[in-house]
Amino acid sequence: MFETDISNIWNSIDFSDLMGIEARISEAHRLISEANGDGHKYLGWHHLPSTTTEEELDRIMAAAKKIRKESKALVVIGAGGSYLGARAAIEFMNGTLHNEKDGVKIFFAGNHLSTRALNELAACLENVDFSVNIISKSGSTMETALAARMFRWLLNRKYGPEKAKGRVYVTTDPHKGKLRALATEEGYTSFSIPTNVGGRYSVLTACGLLPMAVAGIDIRSVISGARQAEQELDIRSMENPAWLYAAARNMLYDNGKKIETFCTYEPDCEYFGRWWQQLFGESEGKDGKGIFPVWLNFTADLHSMGQMIQQGERNLFETVVRFNPCPKELPIEVDWKNIDDLNFLATKNVSFVEDCAYEGVLQAHVDGDVPVILIHAGDMSAMTMGYLFYFFQLACGLSAYALGVNPFDQPGVEAYKKNMMRNLGR
Ligand code: PA5
Repeated sequence: MFETDISNIWNSIDFSDLMGIEARISEAHRLISEANGDGHKYLGWHHLPSTTTEEELDRIMAAAKKIRKESKALVVIGAGGSYLGARAAIEFMNGTLHNEKDGVKIFFAGNHLSTRALNELAACLENVDFSVNIISKSGSTMETALAARMFRWLLNRKYGPEKAKGRVYVTTDPHKGKLRALATEEGYTSFSIPTNVGGRYSVLTACGLLPMAVAGIDIRSVISGARQAEQELDIRSMENPAWLYAAARNMLYDNGKKIETFCTYEPDCEYFGRWWQQLFGESEGKDGKGIFPVWLNFTADLHSMGQMIQQGERNLFETVVRFNPCPKELPIEVDWKNIDDLNFLATKNVSFVEDCAYEGVLQAHVDGDVPVILIHAGDMSAMTMGYLFYFFQLACGLSAYALGVNPFDQPGVEAYKKNMMRNLGR
């Protein structure tokens, strides 16, 4: 069962904090459900799972089938919310080694301005049949627009202009923007990110679902998990795990914990962590406020950040997402020479070592005044992933409103863009 466990944060807060914050979370939930808070025009994600139609899923599946038939690779061209969710999902379900397995290879572009990386990807695709999925809600993100132009050019040269058109899939605003105009002009197959769904809340639209389907992920199970979350997380009390998470992080913030590390013990969750980081960072960091979100991968990052977490400035807390054990155990072999001195573990499984590490880290961090919020998510399945996406979106909306900021805009991102455009002579 999905659960938020705050039993490891009581060193830093007390019961009156929890009672004090309940009204703020309740009001935040009201703002979301009645759509009358700041940014209310971007609440499309709230009932998205239950309103996603079978026709839309069928269209996505049909496009994915065509891509899988015609191509050995798909280049997903998008930035921020227009690629992090898709990448998070593909690695969550198929692992970081997904491109080493059979099936369509999925590459990501349009999220950087590195000449080197673009050249490398173009070289990789030289002898490979490929399609592209250009994703941009606004249709004007520079990184995405440049990469889209480049890969459309490559497709035109490789297949000729007419055949190339059948390999370009566009996901953008239904009505406006340059990418919508391009799709209409060129007759590309296109999908919509509903106008009322902002970039970082769009993973459960075609923006995330088309790349997932191409990667062979069962998108109906993803949506079904999200639907379950939409239904279950409507409870208006601290029984609601999203309330408890939003409440805990706000209480910790009010008590001087300004940094939140998001940790799992699964390397395949790295991009899930990056997706979470964007969601919370861009939603909360405004008006001189906000918890600084940092994703970490345990145990790997204990060997780099463990010291800072244990003994650095006491201004951070941890959120750890735990999954059920992998169904396929990995036993530790006996080695009769035992030079590595590991025979005391022989006959045990790797998961036993991981559990011991987890318990040890939890104890050490709590003892070291790092409060830990635990989220027990269940199996690492498509259903759970859909549930988690929805859970964090709701918790983020609740948290940001409870903090007193608009969760759905990102005015600060424009500053660097303006300077860049000025430098570009626009
Ligand atoms: O959450 C957001 O709106 C942003 O992070 C966007 O996802 C990101 O900037 C990409 O924008 P677009 O999809 O318009 O290219």
